[in-house]
Amino acid sequence: MARKHLFMVALFTCSIIAISCGSNSNSSNNDQSNAPDTSASTTATTDAGAGSAASDSAGIGKFKNVQLTLPLDQKMIASGKSIYDLKCGSCHKLSDEKLVGPGWKGVTDRRTPEWIMNFVTNTDEMIDKNKTAQSLLEICMVRMPNQNLSDDDARSVLEFMRKNDGKK
Ligand code: HEC
Repeated sequence: MARKHLFMVALFTCSIIAISCGSNSNSSNNDQSNAPDTSASTTATTDAGAGSAASDSAGIGKFKNVQLTLPLDQKMIASGKSIYDLKCGSCHKLSDEKLVGPGWKGVTDRRTPEWIMNFVTNTDEMIDKNKTAQSLLEICMVRMPNQNLSDDDARSVLEFMRKNDGKK
């Protein structure tokens, strides 16, 4: 009798496992039914990726062609610095040393102006889709939160970065 009871318990447990496995495979079925979407967006990215190197270096966002000027704009530098002090300095040093995010030294040489402005105004999409941004995430292990900069803010911060990189 006790044996039979045990058997019932075992059977019951199995069926629970079966059910939970079932729900797992259900959810993976859901994943699969979503799969066409994913592959569609992958194709889209690959399409955009036809000029992939270009889109990677310009990043994703509204800035396609940022015109830089010399000499640097002192007003933008000042406003960029105060934005840095307020919103960026807790995670970014001005040297090449990593804090939470990469140090800013040399950033205007390793990234295009478009990439920087797209990254700081469209941070989430960039981290989701841009290879360079993703590789930074792998190094830093922290996702940079969107800092809600206006276009002008972003441009000012860029000017401040250029100054930090020794441009005149
Ligand atoms: C909470 C921390 C944090 C704050 C605040 C922050 N960042 Fe970041 N930032 C990161 C991290 C982490 C990365 C690396 C990319 C990633 O993983 O998100 C990054 C990457 C960057 C990069 C790319 C650097 C490179 O070497 O290519 C730029 C540019 C940048 N941030 C600009 C800014 C600006 C501008 C601000 C302020 C308006 C700011 N960040 C505020 C954490 C932060």
